Amino acid sequence: MKEGLVLILIVFSLSALVNGGKKFKVDVKATKAYGPGLEPDKIVIPVRYFFIEVYDTKGNRVTKSVGKPFQVLVEGETFDGRNCRVWTQILDRYDGSYIVRYRTYQTCTKTIIHVLYNSQHVAESPYKIPGPVYAEDCYCPNGDTVEWKKTVGCPGNYSQIERDLSYFQEVDFDKVLKEAAVRFNQAGSRSFCNYVVKDNKVYRRCYGQHVGFSMFMDNMLHSMVRKMVLPDIEFIVNLGDWPLVDPKVKPLIPIFSWCASEDTADIVMPTYDITEATLEMMGRVTLDLLSVQSNNDIPWALKKSQAFWRGRDSRRERLDLIDMARENQHLINASLTNFFFFKDEESKYGPKEKHVSFFKFFDYKYQLNIDGTVAAYRFPYLLGGSSVVLKQDSPYYEFFYHDLKPYVHFIPFKRDLSDLIEKIEWARANDDKVQEVARNGRKYVQENLMPEAIYCYHAALFEEWSKRLKSKVNIREGMEHIPTPENEKRFGDCRCHRLNRHDEL
Ligand SMILES: *[C@@H]1O[C@H](CO)[C@@H](O)[C@H](O)[C@H]1NC(C)=O
Ligand SMILES: *[C@@H]1O[C@H](CO)[C@@H](O)[C@H](O)[C@H]1NC(C)=O
Repeated sequence: MKEGLVLILIVFSLSALVNGGKKFKVDVKATKAYGPGLEPDKIVIPVRYFFIEVYDTKGNRVTKSVGKPFQVLVEGETFDGRNCRVWTQILDRYDGSYIVRYRTYQTCTKTIIHVLYNSQHVAESPYKIPGPVYAEDCYCPNGDTVEWKKTVGCPGNYSQIERDLSYFQEVDFDKVLKEAAVRFNQAGSRSFCNYVVKDNKVYRRCYGQHVGFSMFMDNMLHSMVRKMVLPDIEFIVNLGDWPLVDPKVKPLIPIFSWCASEDTADIVMPTYDITEATLEMMGRVTLDLLSVQSNNDIPWALKKSQAFWRGRDSRRERLDLIDMARENQHLINASLTNFFFFKDEESKYGPKEKHVSFFKFFDYKYQLNIDGTVAAYRFPYLLGGSSVVLKQDSPYYEFFYHDLKPYVHFIPFKRDLSDLIEKIEWARANDDKVQEVARNGRKYVQENLMPEAIYCYHAALFEEWSKRLKSKVNIREGMEHIPTPENEKRFGDCRCHRLNRHDEL
């Protein structure tokens, strides 16, 4: 361990803490540490993470924050013997549990994870990691999708994928492309890309005027091929927000979309927003499904018993909400932050208000989720926060919405907002129940929307899809190869042992 760290740790003293008026001491051995970040050689994700759950010496789970006594140090060596650059962060969830996360900028060997509470080792710490800890940038596929999903412990099946693919038993992609060109590429009206993954390399050809969003799909595919060998597949990605496939027009065209709806037959996949937050966590993106579980320290009892909403004017009901908030100031705090779709009504519904940090939303107990042009992609973040979500009924959905149950994970209200006031009043009168719904929502996020889960869903979808492709997958004329960036060359060497072994055979 580094000398500097030891010095820092010595200044902490061991003392009794207070929980609900009772004194207790933390039991460092009984305290639990678990999660994929403790097996970083097996599970490669851009940011590794694990949880700490605090227990006291009487064997009770501590349910409030114990402050900042934890220290985590991840040390390792690069292949050429230098110290690994690792950035670690500890997020306090203010419920006696912590999220530890770290990003390695190089592939590390001889990795040791020290988890300390006031300089004492916690749980099984120090964790000595037997294999190399590959950086996100390292190209080092660990088996095919079947093997990879098993290593990571992905769910065995997804009812949403089964449902979406049930329309497509045998797919002839030559026909699909011809139909797609006729229906969606008239005068470049829709923007979409035809992707091919062959021999674990990514190719695409895009159609339409606004194809910049293909970047998100490229990034996800690149991140996947570094980790696993994808089956050879071909598919179409819709780059727009609206789902495209009219189920009444036959033959159905299989199109992968970020948002789906009950009236369309698109194949839904995790939004570009959630994939980007997964890939760029502890980087360009600050709001992600781990950070949203911390960054606010307001206990439920101190939150305002009001509904809160901020957003732009992308749907009429959002303007209606402003009217309701003005009439019911004790119940709703809502403002528009931008005018674009209803600019002519800015004088009535404005002035637009300054941006409020998303993390401050959770000063309020009731979070309103109202559709924008399609599903509001903030929904998973609201769900992962410490408040309860009141969700507008909507035909639009993301890949996980069908798992969620009203009054278990969220509180529903009507699409035209006609029962919203009633629902807020109900929430105010049923505080315990509502707090439980808030906890369930966060638990759902923790169990189903963590970084590896986003890969699991894509892997399962691509694997199932590959089984339906009748024709052999070939690189089509006009496609370009999108090479996988190998940024790690800048810092050192990735030296994938799996590829070396393969080369020797
Ligand atoms: C789907 O997965 C669940 C658990 O992940 C399992 O209990 C169930 O049997 C699976 N169903 C099918 C049809 O494979
Ligand atoms: C609405 O919320 C903002 C942000 O928390 C706050 O500054 C403002 O005072 C609130 N407005 C009312 C009327 O309470």
